[in-house]
Amino acid sequence: MENLKNIIFEVVKKLYGVEVPVEFAPVPAEIEGDYSCNVAMRLARAAGKAPHEVASEIIAELPADYSYSVAGPGFINIAVSGKALYGQLADAWNETYGYNQSGAGKVAVSEFPSTNMAKPYSVGHLRPGTQGWAAKRILEANGWKVITDNHLGDAGTPFGIWATGFKRAGLDIDKVTIYDLGELYIQMKADMKAEAAAGEHALADAAQDWLLKLESGDEEARTLSERFNKISLDHIHSVMKRMNLSTDYELGESFFVERGKALVKQYLEAGVFTQNDDGSVICPLDEFGIDVPMLMLKSNGAALYATTDLGCMDYRAKEWHPDKVIYAVGAEQKFYFEQLFALAKKIGLPQENMHLWFGTIDQISPEGKREKMSSRKGVVLLEALLDDAEKRVRENFAEAELTDEDVRRIATGAIKYSDFIADRKTGILYDPDKIFALTGQSGPFCQYACVRMRRILEKNAGFEAEFGDYDFAAEKAVLLKLLEFPALVASVADNLEAHKIAGYCFELAQEMNRYYENAPISTALDNVRAARLWVVARAMTVLERGLDLLGIEIPDKM
Ligand code: ARG
Repeated sequence: MENLKNIIFEVVKKLYGVEVPVEFAPVPAEIEGDYSCNVAMRLARAAGKAPHEVASEIIAELPADYSYSVAGPGFINIAVSGKALYGQLADAWNETYGYNQSGAGKVAVSEFPSTNMAKPYSVGHLRPGTQGWAAKRILEANGWKVITDNHLGDAGTPFGIWATGFKRAGLDIDKVTIYDLGELYIQMKADMKAEAAAGEHALADAAQDWLLKLESGDEEARTLSERFNKISLDHIHSVMKRMNLSTDYELGESFFVERGKALVKQYLEAGVFTQNDDGSVICPLDEFGIDVPMLMLKSNGAALYATTDLGCMDYRAKEWHPDKVIYAVGAEQKFYFEQLFALAKKIGLPQENMHLWFGTIDQISPEGKREKMSSRKGVVLLEALLDDAEKRVRENFAEAELTDEDVRRIATGAIKYSDFIADRKTGILYDPDKIFALTGQSGPFCQYACVRMRRILEKNAGFEAEFGDYDFAAEKAVLLKLLEFPALVASVADNLEAHKIAGYCFELAQEMNRYYENAPISTALDNVRAARLWVVARAMTVLERGLDLLGIEIPDKM
């Protein structure tokens, strides 16, 4: 139908010399046709003709795949035959149905989840992972090559703070966990703040000493640093594994410190950056309408977040030559990325940069108020959220005797789907009653539709027959939906609108449920049965592909 819309658009342009948006509305069952289009009525006045006349003129130019009639005050009604739709899908169908090659030869970097090493993985890094992964898959489906990179928050200071806190607490290096390290970090930060407020600096000095020791190759500092880093990384990897996320690279902030500092020096010498009286270096951005300059180096010469990002942008440009770089990072960093992208323009980096930002994850408080998700202890760990999700899945699907792997797939499917329920810019509400439900718009609802189709196909495995003159009348709605998929995938590539894919998956799943009610399969005549299995097989592939673009896996059973 997208195709027909384009055809009408062109016909109108040709006949009347204007570009008007073409929309179709479904027509009620009692009226002839499946869709109606109101362009003729919109054009009539300008064309100086009656809407009926305009409608007839347009119809005369349209292809014969559909039948048309003029209805009411000048609607063009379009009737599609199931058989014609079947023909369209059969023609378009191949191994890669839904994917396209429009991005062939282009390279993107998708950066996610960019967790911080110092503390355990929290729900704060859930959306970076799910959105960053979907961005990767959507671009790949459009022919791009995508390089994924976990930009770990591992720059310098955590080690000094960890080591100082670790020594002070007298912990055992063989028993220390990421949770201990996270607590040490939070406690130390608070103590250092209090100390600074009192005009003292013993802890800060100690942390600084550890960093110096590490730099000078001190044996104990090295052992501790390696151990802490391993604990933190193992933890990050285990959570990513549960989420079924991985990245090609893991180049953290620390990897870019020296490169960033060298570039700051270079741009300072070239007069692109300027130095303040206290020795700090800034990048003025007035020419981009940003009156806050970006701080590039501290007065003591230490690197900042922006220093490492400068190094990182330069590295990616030189090593990977990306056409587009996508940063999947929350909305809090919007201004930072505005500055960073302006800086990228200023120094002449060629790639397009995109801050793929999103809102918070909210919950309903015991008092019934919507608030940012938290727990009594503060932040909610992603592991805790996953544990809770798996528990709910085990309860909801108790009779299904799920394998652990299927429990994980359904739990993460539910969580991921909830991330795509609306435009990413809106905050999402973690409402367990809806997220894990088999009814309504949820991940499990879509997954179940896949499992059901798979079961139908398994049950009918090996059955084959000619379709004969089957009219595909009962399949019209499903076929129309399946025909929409390729254009949808193409249309979400630029703005990475994963939620539109999620909406589509839900609609297709719903369409299938409606379909089974009017179209028995196993008990139908041979030719009808074969034709229906052909449609179900394609619907299953399309739904699996759609969910895969969202990183949602299909359980074996549920
Ligand atoms: N680790 C950062 C955070 O959690 C996100 C990193 C974003 N990426 C970047 N290149 N700055 O806030």
